[in-house]
Amino acid sequence: MLDVVPVMPVVVLDDLAHAVPVARALVAGGLPVIELTLRTPVALDAIRAIASEVPEILVGAGTITTPAHAKEALDAGAQFLVSPGTTRSLLHAMQDTGLPFLPGTSTVSEVLAAREAGCTEMKFFPAEASGGTAYLKAVASPVPAARFCPTGGITLASAPSYLALSNVGCVGGSWITPADALAAGDWDRVTRLAAEAAALR
Ligand code: 3PG
Repeated sequence: MLDVVPVMPVVVLDDLAHAVPVARALVAGGLPVIELTLRTPVALDAIRAIASEVPEILVGAGTITTPAHAKEALDAGAQFLVSPGTTRSLLHAMQDTGLPFLPGTSTVSEVLAAREAGCTEMKFFPAEASGGTAYLKAVASPVPAARFCPTGGITLASAPSYLALSNVGCVGGSWITPADALAAGDWDRVTRLAAEAAALR
């Protein structure tokens, strides 16, 4: 999951009609992956629409915070799952779907719990607030098998310092799909932001 794109677009969608155009705009910019967060009432329908109408994008469900979310996302056609944090039941529910997933971690104990469950790839969230690149550098030595998608507070300007780390495969961020661009239906802007992000690697 971490080696597909340098930046995973994290998307909060309020309007179901925006799902397909935003997915197409990301693909046009060279980022054929979307993490659709389960934070709005339309999120599952948006995943369903993207999965059926934009087959060239890898569509995942983010903000998996309950075991039920994992099953609902699978049923909606999600191809991967991302959680902001990790509990035992959340880990099991994501594993039970058979989908690739990134469990959220922000402490070494959570990283070790994810490793015990067989995960090598995980999200580091909230990245900036939890220690940023300094944390990731410090964790690389004791837990070299863990690789991360840091997310939370990362920008186009700060992404390269994360991507330079040996244990970072990609970063996540919402800056590629800003709320005002979505509200205005400015898909060209989303494509431009995606292209800038895609060029980071
Ligand atoms: C997430 O869920 O991963 C974050 O909300 C994204 O963080 P950002 O908005 O700071 O990029």
